[in-house]
Amino acid sequence: MSEASAQTTVRLAPPLVSGAVPGTGHYEEFCRNPAPFLMRCHAECGEVSSFDLAGLQTTLLVGEEAHEAVYRAPDSQLSAAQAYQFMVPVFGQGIQYGAPPVIERQQLKIQAAGLRHDRMVLYAPIVAQEVRDWIADWPDEGEEDFYEKFTELTLKTSTHCLMGADFRANMSDEFRGLYHDLEMAVDPEGLADPDQHGVMAERRDIARARLGELIGERVAQRRAALARGETFHDMFQHYLDATYADGTPLSDHEIAGMVVWFMFAGHHTSGNTSSWMLVELARHPDLMAEVVAELDGVLGDSEEVSFQSLREMPLLEAFLEEVLRLHAPLVTLTRRVMTDFHYKDYLIPAGGNVMVSPYVAHRQPEAFADPLTFNPGRTFPDGPFAYLPFGGGRHKCVGNAFALLQIRTIFAYLLRKFTFELSEPPEYYRDIMPSLILRPSDPCRLRFRRRAR
Ligand code: HEM
Repeated sequence: MSEASAQTTVRLAPPLVSGAVPGTGHYEEFCRNPAPFLMRCHAECGEVSSFDLAGLQTTLLVGEEAHEAVYRAPDSQLSAAQAYQFMVPVFGQGIQYGAPPVIERQQLKIQAAGLRHDRMVLYAPIVAQEVRDWIADWPDEGEEDFYEKFTELTLKTSTHCLMGADFRANMSDEFRGLYHDLEMAVDPEGLADPDQHGVMAERRDIARARLGELIGERVAQRRAALARGETFHDMFQHYLDATYADGTPLSDHEIAGMVVWFMFAGHHTSGNTSSWMLVELARHPDLMAEVVAELDGVLGDSEEVSFQSLREMPLLEAFLEEVLRLHAPLVTLTRRVMTDFHYKDYLIPAGGNVMVSPYVAHRQPEAFADPLTFNPGRTFPDGPFAYLPFGGGRHKCVGNAFALLQIRTIFAYLLRKFTFELSEPPEYYRDIMPSLILRPSDPCRLRFRRRAR
């Protein structure tokens, strides 16, 4: 064998990050807050680094080229389904990653079809109505924990667009509580072991079973209403009308799973991004003034924010884009290595996980000049593998158009009526990760005052 060809077959193990603890490796440091841990991995080892999550070897890949390699690998080699098995008890057996790949792909197509751009015109007025109702009884000034406020609002907008006006109007505390129990059972530790929290897992399973019953009752009511000739245009109806490629409709169990999946994917991601959006606006009063001036210019005397008017607000759009760069809510995008994965000189063996991190990716100076500075006027890289708030490849977010529509609508109404100030010094508001999703410090309090117009 020539020297050159011998060199091309050399395969290196990804370098292991320092600080592994005997027995558990980097598990505790990762679970405390994955974001700074992953930054440390990259700073120490560069493009490819590996760590040990209590026996699960995990490799972090950073940079456009490395992200592209991950996103271009087939599911049979880098599997999202196998990495996210901890979501199966939440969504239900037979749903998404709990279903065979051929079914999973069709279910995803159904979700995507219900969230296509042309359906946004149906959801825009619903989101607008929810936001108007939400702020209708605010006093002229006050102080609130806006993380809580946005979590409450996005639960309302999600359930309204998803389940229809009637369900939303009668949304019970039981529904809220059950959904909360499901959420509480998902955290970074789940990546290594889905069932380690005995009590939480038990509550999760009880909550999922009862939600299945409640949604099942809703299916029966909807079918009765359809039989009476009523018509509906929400996501729920879309699930009832949908069929697999062979013409089979979704079962009631599958409809319940699709509902929970939609709620999970869209609720906190949008709520947390809204919280960070507000913090960054209040942290940058000059930029907030520019966004407000744009808004006033587009809306004039109108009190309504139309679907069309939202498209005429590039500053608001750029602001949100920059919020999603520095505070992308999903910090770890994970795949299970099913067959050995080669990247450059590295061999990442089957059996472990690979990770792409939007948090780390968006702080790379090669892609984003002066990356730690909040600058909505910045130039974003052209390629699809540097800016990844919605992921990439075949598992890229199917709800991104809905999420952007929703957040822009929320801020168009909010900034039209109120102005905001931080309650704490700017450095108080940091990225924390008590669950799998990034959020600002807890509590996230801000002061508001009604604008004089
Ligand atoms: C700011 C808001 C949002 C962000 C930042 C976000 C981000 C993401 C990311 C990064 C992924 C890819 C996960 C991976 O590769 O492992 C994803 C997937 C997904 N998102 Fe979103 N998302 C948001 C809102 C939404 C909304 C509102 C919905 C639904 C209404 C939604 C539905 C989905 C679905 C169904 C998937 C799974 C795609 C698949 O399995 O292939 N997302 N999202």
